[in-house]
Amino acid sequence: MKYCKTIWITGSSDGLGLLAAGELVRAGHRVILHARNPERARWAMQQVPGAKDVLVGDLSNLEEVKQLAEAANQIGPFDVVIHNAGVYQASPQHIFMVNVLAPYVLTNLLFKPERLIYLSSDMHWQGKPLINLDPDRVSYADSKLYVLMLCLAVARLWPSVLANAVNPGWVPTKMGGSRAPDNLKKGYETQVWLAVHNESKARVSGKYFFHQKPQPFHPDASNETLQDHLLEQCEKLSGVVFHENTRVNKKKYSQTNQTRN
Ligand SMILES: NC(=O)c1ccc[n+]([C@@H]2O[C@H](COP(=O)([O-])OP(=O)(O)OC[C@H]3O[C@@H](n4cnc5c(N)ncnc54)[C@H](OP(=O)(O)O)[C@@H]3O)[C@@H](O)[C@H]2O)c1
Repeated sequence: MKYCKTIWITGSSDGLGLLAAGELVRAGHRVILHARNPERARWAMQQVPGAKDVLVGDLSNLEEVKQLAEAANQIGPFDVVIHNAGVYQASPQHIFMVNVLAPYVLTNLLFKPERLIYLSSDMHWQGKPLINLDPDRVSYADSKLYVLMLCLAVARLWPSVLANAVNPGWVPTKMGGSRAPDNLKKGYETQVWLAVHNESKARVSGKYFFHQKPQPFHPDASNETLQDHLLEQCEKLSGVVFHENTRVNKKKYSQTNQTRN
């Protein structure tokens, strides 16, 4: 029998998140959507018939992100989490909160899934070196470098989890704009493939993919000292500790034990 995965996708009320959700539902998986508010949540559920549920929380608000993690753990655990939500045209603080701090907080507060996928971008190459993280000066390019760095830190420190990042290309969504030159379908296929496929090429960790192929990335992203600095700064700014492979998926553990008993 085909194994059905439970997958949560942040920012799945539009764009690549919505498209990936639809594809995964059609493939028979249990997909939980996410939207910033109840109105967007209703919209998302209408757009993805067959989605199991929708979680609501504004990722630009730290307290809402923490509450969102609690709500997600109530209906989880998830096999896969796709950290997809992102903003491009916003203030530096807003970009940092949605694109970097929210994925950091959710990564740490959620029960560990089997696979984690983070949306980065080709623009991460223009990110500034992370010497002193100042949320008031974070550009979109910086945020995509930092989220890639977060992904690679998770891959290094949590060997039990497959954590990979994706550059979807410049594609025509609300963010990419109608004149974006790259293929929209290819823009979400890699996330879907990394989420559910069992072929060895999809079961790797610590890679940065474009169109299902690992690509070189900014050398700062794999610099362990810079990664640790990012984790420390995120911990300080959010109050959420980065656990080095210690957070047990208690709910899944007790479910497994109940099944065994
Ligand atoms: N499109 C591109 O060319 C491109 C290129 C490189 C990387 N990416 C990355 O790919 C990911 C998806 O981008 P996209 O093109 O699909 O963007 P999009 O069409 O603008 O969709 C972004 C999604 O994130 C949600 N979101 C934004 N801010 C939020 C907040 N504060 N709280 C909760 N949800 C929020 C949006 O909700 P609403 O629907 O309510 O706005 C939407 O569902 C992003 O991480 C982006 O950086 C995109």
